[in-house]
Amino acid sequence: MKIVIGSDHGGYELKEQIKSYLLEKNIQLDDLGTHTKDSVDYPDYGKKVGKAVVSGHYDFGIVLCGTGIGISIAANKVKGVRAALVYDETTARLAREHNNANIIALGGRTTTREKAISIIETFMNSTFEERHQTRLDKIKTIEGNE
Ligand code: RB5
Repeated sequence: MKIVIGSDHGGYELKEQIKSYLLEKNIQLDDLGTHTKDSVDYPDYGKKVGKAVVSGHYDFGIVLCGTGIGISIAANKVKGVRAALVYDETTARLAREHNNANIIALGGRTTTREKAISIIETFMNSTFEERHQTRLDKIKTIEGNE
């Protein structure tokens, strides 16, 4: 299992907490920043993580900003990214089962450490249901990828 993670300043603190948890579990993790609490622009980190995920080197990505909204919008502009903003275990499970999300987005100012960990565990323990593939193929068509 290899995960890539990135955030702006609004998601920095939660990113660090998630990182500690995953590293304790011996999960391989690349942190693409930000590395301080200084103000940065979330599109830069959404793009970085999005590109890393579509490169095929990771099982999935995690992006964070204050709400998770801006950075999920940014990551979804990278061709091949299916970033899902998830706030609870149900949306985390469905993001995998129905949407085969390859990135989950979390809000650093809206999600506790405990909830974030539970969301990530739920996502990791869920699997894509093939019956939804036709819809994902249609999303690819929107990207001009067919
Ligand atoms: C930054 O203040 C904040 O706008 C950002 O972290 C995020 O919540 C945007 O969607």
